[in-house]
Amino acid sequence: MELILDSAIIEEVEDISKWGVLDGVTTNPSLIRKSGRDFEDTIRKIAEICPGPISAEVTSLTANEMIEEGMDLKSRLPKNVIIKIPCTPDGLAATKTLSGRGIPVNVTLVFSVSQALLSAKAGAAYVSPFLGRLDDIGQDGLGLIEEISQVWSAQGIKNCKILAASIRSRRHVEVSARLGAQAATIPYNIFTKLIQHELTDSGLDKFMSDWEAVKSEGRA
Ligand code: E4P
Repeated sequence: MELILDSAIIEEVEDISKWGVLDGVTTNPSLIRKSGRDFEDTIRKIAEICPGPISAEVTSLTANEMIEEGMDLKSRLPKNVIIKIPCTPDGLAATKTLSGRGIPVNVTLVFSVSQALLSAKAGAAYVSPFLGRLDDIGQDGLGLIEEISQVWSAQGIKNCKILAASIRSRRHVEVSARLGAQAATIPYNIFTKLIQHELTDSGLDKFMSDWEAVKSEGRA
């Protein structure tokens, strides 16, 4: 599974990048706003730290404008940047054109199997179902991942990766992986929880104190 950080904060990307397991980063206008930094500078810095894909989202709403914006971003930003496009009729048309021109697209704001299917049909490289936001309105985010995954198997869809997004818990990541999502984009606070376990901490404390004892006995 590709592990992607859902953040536009450089320090967070640097921190997780040091673990050696980070594949990419997703950003969106809200995350850019939260970062308090310039959009393009931020994307460039992230693209230096992380191999990619780094998702940069368009902010236009018509197909022609999205195509123009996507082409422009792709031409000016580093090679590992891909274009994120919202799941609307115009977004599908833009995805079809951009993917046809060899530009990888991540279709975002996906909340149903139909939207995922249409995005794959339009040529998306990634489709991003938003788990947490579905859970927030009393629907089953992980259930959507399961259904999309079943459709992908039934239809033999191979060129479009399911990117579990709007992740709110470790369980979201673990179950998405079990259900066949090929990627997950994870906020920093959840990413840091993925590595934590109290038995790891207490086990390590015990190994260290026993090793100190071995040394004090002159056996190391
Ligand atoms: C995905 O690419 C989005 O940036 C993200 O996962 C949105 O999640 P949120 O619901 O936490 O804002």
